Amino acid sequence: MSLDDFKNVMNDLSKNDYEEKAGECSWDDFKRVVTSRRSVRVYDKTKVPESVIHEAIDMALIAPTSSNLQQTEFYWVRTPALREKLVTYCLSQPAAATAAELIVVVARTDTWRRNAAAVIRQLKDSGAPRAAISYYERLVPLAYGRGPLGLLNLAKRVYFRFKGMYSITPREPRSTADLRVWAHKSAALAAENFMLAIRAKGYDSCPMEGHDSHRVKCLIGLPRGAEVNMVISVGRRASSGVYGPRMRLERKLFVFEL
Ligand SMILES: Cc1cc2nc3c(=O)[nH]c(=O)nc-3n(C[C@H](O)[C@H](O)[C@H](O)COP(=O)(O)O)c2cc1C
Repeated sequence: MSLDDFKNVMNDLSKNDYEEKAGECSWDDFKRVVTSRRSVRVYDKTKVPESVIHEAIDMALIAPTSSNLQQTEFYWVRTPALREKLVTYCLSQPAAATAAELIVVVARTDTWRRNAAAVIRQLKDSGAPRAAISYYERLVPLAYGRGPLGLLNLAKRVYFRFKGMYSITPREPRSTADLRVWAHKSAALAAENFMLAIRAKGYDSCPMEGHDSHRVKCLIGLPRGAEVNMVISVGRRASSGVYGPRMRLERKLFVFEL
């Protein structure tokens, strides 16, 4: 499949007759959820109902994912012995030690083929346009595959380097590192959905990359192509659970209008 084929697929997909109305939203509610989310380092002893975690995970599962390949997983560590270990692997930081629940968000670089096959089946069952199916059948393996001994990646690197000199072309992923970035982007979006959902339900959270990722990975039995994106603790904030007022640097350091 060439880049022109890719553009054709995209154009064909835009010519569909599906309509979905945008629902009404409340800015005030949204703002309250976003602004009241803080990284909570100490929780009180309040239990978090199971349904809250399940519903928050459901919200995380509908976060956008690259090519809709749904490369994020959630490991809710509930077994006391495993949980105890996970706390120590999170360096016994209070955000983990005092939490009611701990969830490991995992980025997968190795499930896209399985998921693409499942997406193709669903698309076929729902009578989706041929262009959508062709995207998953033909383009996805090229975009995310590495080929035997990484040869496809090598070919992509060379091809896009030269092609990119003369025309606009997508360039990543063309290495294992690119694929890791690809998986972590979607995982982080899912993690944020999860934390906002937890807040909307009246509870709190803390994202943690202060952990021993190798040990966490072994603890939850992840294979090679899976990586810990972050561990998220959940609970209800103790009165002194937030360490200080929200601090952000000046907006002008980060926002550019061109
Ligand atoms: C990827 C990531 C990793 C983080 N890791 C930790 C951590 O290990 N321990 C911790 O206490 N906070 C951690 N934080 C929380 C940040 O310190 C916090 O978001 C930041 O100080 C801003 O505070 P706020 O979230 O309350 O606005 C992490 C945040 C992110 C996004």
